[in-house]
Amino acid sequence: MSFPIDRPRRLRANETLRRLVRETHLTVDDLVQPLFVVPGNNIKREISSLTGQYHLSVDRLAEEAARISDLEIPAVILFGIPGHKDEHGSAAYDDDAEVQRATRAIKKVAPGLLVITDVCLCEYTSHGHCGVVSKQEVVNDATLELLAKTAVSHARAGADIVAPSDMMDGRIAAIRSALDKEGFTQTAILSYAVKYASAYYGPFREAVGSAPQFGDRRGYQMDPGNVLEALREAELDLAEGADMIMVKPGIAYLDVLALVKRTFNRVTAAYQVSGEYAMIEAAAARGWVDRRRIILETLLSFKRAGADFILTYYASEVAGWMRERN
Ligand code: PBG
Ligand code: ZN
Repeated sequence: MSFPIDRPRRLRANETLRRLVRETHLTVDDLVQPLFVVPGNNIKREISSLTGQYHLSVDRLAEEAARISDLEIPAVILFGIPGHKDEHGSAAYDDDAEVQRATRAIKKVAPGLLVITDVCLCEYTSHGHCGVVSKQEVVNDATLELLAKTAVSHARAGADIVAPSDMMDGRIAAIRSALDKEGFTQTAILSYAVKYASAYYGPFREAVGSAPQFGDRRGYQMDPGNVLEALREAELDLAEGADMIMVKPGIAYLDVLALVKRTFNRVTAAYQVSGEYAMIEAAAARGWVDRRRIILETLLSFKRAGADFILTYYASEVAGWMRERN
């Protein structure tokens, strides 16, 4: 059948009708809020490269987590900025470091809020790389042991989900077996399975001081031109025991997200990264785009492409908007 019988505009006539036939929805259940924890007390300092986001000491982070939990956001993801960095990123697997203390503090004030921890070394190494460095090279297998130690330390602190973001080969198997050996069989793994070497991470690296001191991350993060390789990465991580997989960044890789979701039909997350946030904030500050509409439209696009949930710096703000509507 075709025009004049078929008139798609009939179902667009008013908001109630549009609401009835809408295929994709964004809800508070889809949102994960990233938080940055720093040493010290009573610190809440705006991050210059991520306006509206804060460096929080454990005490202030716990307050923020309680507020996020009240908004019914299901989860936060924690990133640590350590007091001291060294060659081997030892603060990553120190039971008394910031992420571990923050995890314990959250579990006290908001036991129902899921704690995801980012498992990587780059925030903790003096050279800024995601693994152990020898002769200007990031050494894969020696790194696995440290990543596994980090994941176990996070689990011991009470993390519900560990999220390795380093892109070393074999890290999911290494982490799964270390967790199981220590009795953390219920700790889930959200793998940053498909993580591209991207310019969109710039503001984050400034926020955590993790820009590599030499070279770049192209020897371990993926080449932006590749999509068959994305399927391979996801397949390997699932085979090694990942419970959930992630595609990152978000907006520039919606094709990859859609394909990964359709191919494996497994829980798949999207990460709207710091550069995506910064670009929206910059354009909105100039009045060039409608801030609220562009945020909601972008987050909906991740859902439409197949994301089961979204890591986004907008999580708590968007949850607040959703609450206004109800
Ligand atoms: C650590 C890590 C990074 C991000 C998440 N985990 C940075 C990187 O790989 O350089 C990026 C997050 C963002 O840009 O918002 N490996
Ligand atoms: Zn890293």
